[in-house]
Amino acid sequence: MSSKIIVLGSVNCQLQAVFTKLAKLQAKQNFAFAIIVGNLFGDSSTETELNEISGLLNGSINVPLPTYFTVGDKPLPTRIVEKIEADDEVCPNLYFLGKRGTLKTSEGIRIAALGGTLGSSTDAQSKPESNASGKFQTTYSESDARALYGTHSADILITNQWPKGIRFGSKVDLPEDKSLLPAEAQCVSDIVATLKPRYHFSVSDGFFYEREPFFHMPTEDNPDAKPLTRFISLASFGGKQKAMYAFSIDPKAAPPITVPAGVTASPLSAPQTKRKGLPPQRESFHRFAAPEEDRPRKRQRAPPPGPGECFFCLANPNLATHLITSIGSEAYLTTAKGPLPPNNYFPDLGFPGHMLIIPFSHSPTITSIPDPETRTSTYNEMQRYRSSLHQMITDRSGGKLGAVTWEVSRGSGIHIHWQFLPMPSDLIRGGLVEAAFKVEAENLSYPRFTATSASSDGSTEPGDFFRVWIWSGPQAQSEGEKPDGEAEKSEAVEKTLLLELTPDFRFDLQFGRRVMAKLLELDKRMNWKDATQAYEEEEGDAKAFKEAFKKYDFSLEE
Ligand SMILES: *[C@@H]1O[C@H](CO)[C@@H](O)[C@H](O)[C@H]1NC(C)=O
Ligand SMILES: *[C@@H]1O[C@H](CO)[C@@H](O)[C@H](O)[C@H]1NC(C)=O
Ligand SMILES: *[C@@H]1O[C@H](CO)[C@@H](O)[C@H](O)[C@H]1NC(C)=O
Ligand SMILES: [Zn+2]
Repeated sequence: MSSKIIVLGSVNCQLQAVFTKLAKLQAKQNFAFAIIVGNLFGDSSTETELNEISGLLNGSINVPLPTYFTVGDKPLPTRIVEKIEADDEVCPNLYFLGKRGTLKTSEGIRIAALGGTLGSSTDAQSKPESNASGKFQTTYSESDARALYGTHSADILITNQWPKGIRFGSKVDLPEDKSLLPAEAQCVSDIVATLKPRYHFSVSDGFFYEREPFFHMPTEDNPDAKPLTRFISLASFGGKQKAMYAFSIDPKAAPPITVPAGVTASPLSAPQTKRKGLPPQRESFHRFAAPEEDRPRKRQRAPPPGPGECFFCLANPNLATHLITSIGSEAYLTTAKGPLPPNNYFPDLGFPGHMLIIPFSHSPTITSIPDPETRTSTYNEMQRYRSSLHQMITDRSGGKLGAVTWEVSRGSGIHIHWQFLPMPSDLIRGGLVEAAFKVEAENLSYPRFTATSASSDGSTEPGDFFRVWIWSGPQAQSEGEKPDGEAEKSEAVEKTLLLELTPDFRFDLQFGRRVMAKLLELDKRMNWKDATQAYEEEEGDAKAFKEAFKKYDFSLEE
């Protein structure tokens, strides 16, 4: 079914005017929702503007239909930020998508947003959102842009900056004065080339620009379709130039097979990613954008489904970004919420060391990542994170620590992730860790573990399983054992255990953590909810980890 949508350029705090206008249009047009690109609030420095904000917050300015907005190039007013932090919405019907966010509306329309301007690669902000306030930042990083690839496709993309090269091949007139043209960013081009949105909206303060629609080359997955993108840049609201654009969209309509007249080839240069291909267009939004049934409703009037709720999707604006410690090209690393060991448990580390390795791709298992190339590169990068973690803990502990990494891979799962935990090397070498997994499985009448060959490519493991890698670390030399200084470290040994599961088998998702808790005598912290930390403590641990991991973090090499 088609839905009517209206999109507006920067509003710059003319809230009463814009929502009165929208209410009038809405009475006749019955839009499904509105989107505001650019700055909704502007500088918010004058008294008039401050009154407008008060009016919005105290209900005297009414938002007539569900309206979404992101960040432009100006910071959101503090009062608005505080309101969003408290209630998730500014006022009834007005929703913040985050600087980087995705959303599937109740009409089934998928929206992806990247607000702000690209931060320079030297400043701190070149790293992705590093704490909860990141979603309000007016700069984004290339990693933020890359994080949107994980959503695979979109109906509507909104960005505050233009994609690089967008004017190429277009005959549409632009202002003579080139200084009026907005900044273009390569990573915005890459997002467009990857998500192939049907509509891409951006802003250009003083003028309106609608490029000829352009088509993307067909993909292997869908060789017959030539997806079209319409790029539209809106002027600011309240001026003489066109600042509003209404259209109908049917998210289920198939992309055209032939190229309509007036359409050009894609002006966007080939995406600059570290690997060759990009994930082909595919439908995977539906899972993490499921309606948020369990989220407490703060108001009676039911808003449309809010931003996606997958815990592990980087594009979920509600993600605990202050836990993220590294973002690669296919996967990222975070500290665990409610870590099993407290931060003084491993004195050599000074942080809990309980980590999660999570792919960008929203897939329940590695094998279910549809594109073979993405599947392999994702698995390889996850392994690369694991090796880097191994190196770090070996160096910091002088070889006293090994590590255990486990995963529950089930077709019925939500988003695959690996849990990583340091483990005293002597427990591993003494066989205690392996035994602990086997005993616990036996006690629960689980199927038996099988050892798999370390050389098998785990990315193609079939079916449902629980897998654990037990890595001993190179054996430490005790003092004086090798007086001649020819200390030879014994090689690290790794054992992989696999417990195959049938799809309907009831398997305790906390199995791995439980075994670890018993081994480390941390039974009291077995349940992560009994190990939760204050925000500051979480942030402190993530910071301490990042500092220690810096030397080993390949995502920082450029
Ligand atoms: C809301 O705020 C506006 C602007 O400050 C003010 O004029 C108005 O009286 C307020 N309305 C209510 C109901 O508090
Ligand atoms: C969040 O991170 C940004 C940049 O990374 C920093 O400027 C800001 O002070 C941080 N905020 C908090 C509350 O730590
Ligand atoms: C086996 O499981 C039971 C409860 O399920 C528990 O009380 C017992 O301590 C377990 N035994 C071992 C050896 O872990
Ligand atoms: Zn996900």
